[in-house]
Parts: sequence; structure tokens; C-alpha cells
Amino acid sequence: MTYADVYESWRSDREGFWLQAARAIDWHRFPTRALTEEADPVPQWYPDGMVNGCYNALDRHVAEGRAHDVAIIHDSPVTESRQEITYGDLLGRVARLAGALKARGVGKGDRVVIYMPMIPEAVEAMLACARIGAIHCVVFGGFAARELAVRIDDCRPKAILAGSCGIEPNRVVAYKPLLEAALREADHKPEFCVILQRPQAMAEIEHGRDFEWHDFQEEAEPVDCLPVEANHPAYILYTSGTTGKPKGVVRPTAGHLVALHWTMKNIYNTDPGEVFWAASDVGWVVGHSYICYGPLLHGNTTLIYEGKPVGTPDAGAFWRVIARNKVRTLFTAPTALRAIKREDPEGRMARDHDISGLRAIYLAGERADPDTVAWARDVTGVPVYDHWWQTETGYTIAGNPVGIEALPVKDGSSTVPMPGYEVHILDEAGREVPRGSLGAVAIKLPLPPGTLSGIWGDEDRFRRSYLSAYPGYYASGDAGMIDEDGYVSILARTDDVINVAGHRLSTGGMEEVLADHPDVAECAVIGVSDPLKGQLPMGFLCLNRNCARPAEEIAREAVDLVRERVGPVAAFKLALVVERLPKTRSGKILRATMAGIADGEDVAIPATIDDPAILDELRAAMAHLGYGVRREAAS
Ligand code: COA
Ligand code: AMP
Repeated sequence: MTYADVYESWRSDREGFWLQAARAIDWHRFPTRALTEEADPVPQWYPDGMVNGCYNALDRHVAEGRAHDVAIIHDSPVTESRQEITYGDLLGRVARLAGALKARGVGKGDRVVIYMPMIPEAVEAMLACARIGAIHCVVFGGFAARELAVRIDDCRPKAILAGSCGIEPNRVVAYKPLLEAALREADHKPEFCVILQRPQAMAEIEHGRDFEWHDFQEEAEPVDCLPVEANHPAYILYTSGTTGKPKGVVRPTAGHLVALHWTMKNIYNTDPGEVFWAASDVGWVVGHSYICYGPLLHGNTTLIYEGKPVGTPDAGAFWRVIARNKVRTLFTAPTALRAIKREDPEGRMARDHDISGLRAIYLAGERADPDTVAWARDVTGVPVYDHWWQTETGYTIAGNPVGIEALPVKDGSSTVPMPGYEVHILDEAGREVPRGSLGAVAIKLPLPPGTLSGIWGDEDRFRRSYLSAYPGYYASGDAGMIDEDGYVSILARTDDVINVAGHRLSTGGMEEVLADHPDVAECAVIGVSDPLKGQLPMGFLCLNRNCARPAEEIAREAVDLVRERVGPVAAFKLALVVERLPKTRSGKILRATMAGIADGEDVAIPATIDDPAILDELRAAMAHLGYGVRREAAS
């Protein structure tokens, strides 16, 4: 079958297609129907099915005699260690942790926050929750305590499972003080915390509330999997929206099992037993889908990498990991390849390792620039496939269906819509634009199985954010185009979300933090282009009239404030004090125009601008940071 055949088979019988795909996972009760009829706010998949995610990730492989196969490889240059865990061992560990949680009263529907670095216990914790129907909420370690507090207050967890520290190349990040600060700030208090002690920074245990990871489980009886309704939330994962309040994307259980399983062969072209490496973090959607669930559902070995593309210890790290762990498929963000390329432009370090087992590289998280794609292809000798997806969808919207048919690669495009996704490019009035024209990328409803079923505790935000702009469509928040061959290219966001080193961040959230500075009267944050990270945030601050303090001092404080409140991952290091901000006559800040100026583009002066002279002032201010000048002039 060709891609066109498969896509057509989905188009002609969407429900039949997904019922057939559902047969690849094990059900406690197989659904009699694919989709609910009620579409409020969106239809639900497999409404009467009963299933368990952990069973599908672990128990069934063990039942099929694969207990001795390796489920997880933990490769950790920052601790100079490597460990393999078999499916049988992982099942034992997960069942015991699940038993301990259950014994402490955690049950179906309870939320559990997981705040852990890239260690196997993070995946164990996720699966232990799935085993007993608890809803996990993993929080990325690079966020500040305040971000953790916001998430705790939003999802109100019964328990928090945390590591004592994470290890960055330049420092050990003690998680416990961050957790304590978050718990002080949050109104909601969990019943208990379980702390995995790591020797690099041992945590202080608060007796009565905290348990040490191993003590917590010592007496516990392993428990079996609890079947849950298909649309029971598997997890909540917070992602950035246009405001500082993150959106808790809710993932329905069965749909995500079916869809992720489908992608492992059809998109990643991998077979059970092969090593699959998603070089992301468990705190992001890529980590959920392709470090934890996808590979394990499919019986692959998943590689958990605790290190960076460069600096742990050098730019050969990825090649070393691929060679020594026999990685077949690498999934990473373009920014990671750019980091390697910057240090080793010739890719010499790849030649020091036997990476002949590598079959393909998949890129996502940000636009894959053709230079980086070509470089990676030359250095590794394998195809490099871009694919487009979002936290909300949990897996590929547009990609190259290599397991069905490897379509010709067009650099700069994510290739074609996957079955399940009918992608349209719309203008502001919701009309389809001609092929090759830029517009808002929207997906015809219903979305396929496994995509978000809502925003935790805020159905109205779900409608407002995604469903109201174009009735009958899901608005992706991305702008892009579809060419004559049906290839999809994603070019930019249409909202205030920026993408920094493959991390999705809200400029609105940063503005909220900056506005809290006592000397700041008004502010704006924009994304500016960066050759390594894709984008970087840049903040503009207008100070209160009576403020007599030096501008540089306030700019420094602004940088510290964002690091303290949002976290180091925001990489907010560019702050400028300016007299005024460019606005339309109705008072709207012209952020897109500002970003164009910062990037050295030839920006047209918007007809609605209140005072065009401000643009020259801005250009002059940006020049101090090396921005706002034409690229040719800058280089
Ligand atoms: N815990 C604590 N701090 C963290 C962290 C974590 N899990 N992850 C990142 N940080 C910190 C870093 O230490 C850094 O702090 P610093 O300002 O003190 O140096 C800051 O957050 C920014 O980190 P990062 O974005 O990793 O930038 P970097 O300059 O250290 O490294 C890259 C650049 C390109 C190597 C790195 O961003 C990278 O590997 N990106 C790939 C991202 C990815 O895989 N995304 C997943 C989407 S598919
Ligand atoms: P996240 O939810 O963190 O996965 O970020 C999703 C956003 O990242 C998308 O809405 C896009 O803006 C961007 N993105 C992800 N993959 C791609 C890609 N392949 N090409 C261009 N942009 C991408």
C-alpha cells in the first residue's frame, strides 16, 4: 500500500480505520464504536472501551515471553553511568511503586506530580500512575519553583514524586529546595512526597510528609493493572499559551495508546526490539510520547539520555550514544543538531564512532532549517525527516510515513498529513487559501484518537483557544502553507508563543513577570531569531516616569526576575529599557513589527501605527545588543 492508499482508506472510513488500528493494543473491553456522536466540545474516541496503559507498555510483553528483553537503557554521561533494565525488571519495579502509591491512598483519577530528571525512575513513576489509573503530571526540571507551584495549584495532586537533583553540565540543580519553594507558594498541599535521593545532592526529608523512594516501597505489595475507561485522562501536560497561565493538556488513555502504537511502525519504521532514542526530556510531550509510551507500547528499547548534545563532554556525545547503544532511530530537535554542528562543523566526531546501525533521524519541535537537515544527512549518511506536531496532538500531524512508503523529502517541509489529520490553510475569514499561499494551519474536526480531550479544569479555555477561531476546525496556532504536491510547511506561530531551543514558551507569560517589576510601567517581549536556539526572547521595558535608577540595573533585574519566576529554560537574557513602545492607534503593541526589526528585516511601516518615529528609536536601542541591523551589515 502507498501513503495515498492508506490516507484514502482513512478518508473513506475514518472510524473503521481507527477501530482497525485499535486492534494492535490489548483491551480489557474492546470498543463497539469508534467515536461518540456528541461533539461537545469534541467527540471522544472508543467511548465504551476499557484499557490500561501500563499493561500495554509492560505486562503484555512479559506475558508474551519478552521479560528478558531490554526495555530501558539509561545512558548518563553526567553521572558517567549506563544501565539496562529489562521488561521483566521494569514491570516488577513499576508494580511495586504502584502498590506503594495505592497503599497510601492514591487511586483512579488522583493526580500525581512527577518532578524528575532524565532517569529511569521518571518513566517508572509515569507507568506506576497509569497502572492504578492515577493521572500523572510531569513538570520539566528547568522551570522555576513558581511554575511548579502554578501547576500544583491547577492539578491539585495527591502526591508528588521527585528526584533530589538534576545535573546540568555546569551545575547540580537541587530539586528539593525548588519543590519546597513551590509548596510554600502553592495553595494546594499534596498529602505526601516521595523523594529519590541522588548522591550528587541529597535532599532534606521532611518527616511526616516526605518518604524516601526506596523506603516508601519496601513493604509494598505489587499491584495489578486497573482497567480504565478509554477516555480516562492518562496524563496532564502543561504547555505554554498566550498568557502566563499554562494550559493543562489532557490526554485520553486509549486514543493515545492506539495512535502512538500506530506511529511506531508507520512513521518511525521501527520494529520491536530495536533501540529508539528520543533525545528530549520526560517533561515535554516528546518525552511522554517517545521516551515513555510509544517505544514501550511497541516493545522497543527506549533510551533515556541524561546529557546534552554538547558539553557532556563534547560534540561527539550523540554519535557515542548511538554507537554504544545500537540506536536505530534518533528523534531530536534541530537546535540540538545546530549545537553539534557549531562545535564540529565537519562532523569529524561522527567518524570516530560506528554509527552504521542508525537508520533515520526525525526532527521536531521547531522549524527544521534546510542547512541543518542537509548537514545531518551528510554527516550521518541517513535520511533526516522533519515532522510537525504539538503537545496538544501528542504525535505527528504532518510527517513522512516511512513505514508505509518513504516519500521524497523536500527540505523546509514536514511532508504530508498523516491519516487522521485533514489539514487546511485558512485566511483570517476562515476561507481556504490557494495552494502555496501562507495562512493559518487548521485541522478539520474531529481530531484523531490520542489528541487532547480538553484543558484540565477549563473547558471554556479549550473552546476559546482552539475551537472558536474557525468553526468546525482545530486552530493549531501555527502559520504555514501546503504546496501543489500536498506537502505541508510550518513557518511560524500566529500567537505569542515562541520556540527557544525546541522549548515552547509564552512571551505573554514573560511580560506578566516583567510587569511585576516595581519600576516597569509597560513592557513587551518578542522572539528574535537565533542561529543556535531558533529563537530567543527579547524584552522591552518602559520605566515609570519617576524612576531615577540606572536603566542597566533594571534590565539586569528583569533578566534575574524571569529566570527566578519562569526558569533558566526561558533563556531570557536580552532586556532593553526604551522610552516607548510602537503601537497602533488603538493601543495594540506592534510585536511582529518589533520582531522584524530585531531580525534585520526590511519591515513595512504598518498603516495603523501611531507614531512611526518610534521604530527608529527601537532600531537604535536594539543595535546596542547587536540586533535590529541588517543581516548583511551585521555579518
Ligand atoms: N533542569 C534545570 N535546568 C535546566 C534544565 C533542566 N532539566 N534544562 C535546561 N536547563 C537550564 C540550562 O542549564 C541553562 O541554564 P544556564 O542559563 O544557567 O546555562 C538554561 O536552562 C537553558 O538551557 P538549554 O535550553 O538547554 O540551553 P543550553 O544553552 O544549555 O543548551 C542546547 C543549548 C541546544 C544544547 C539545548 O537547548 C538542547 O539540547 N536542546 C534540545 C532541546 C530538546 O530536545 N527539546 C525537546 C523538544 S523535541
Ligand atoms: P510543543 O507543543 O512544545 O511540541 O511545540 C509545538 C510547536 O512547535 C508547534 O505548534 C510549532 O510551532 C513548533 N513545531 C513543532 N514541530 C515543528 C516542525 N516540524 N516544524 C515547524 N515547527 C514545529
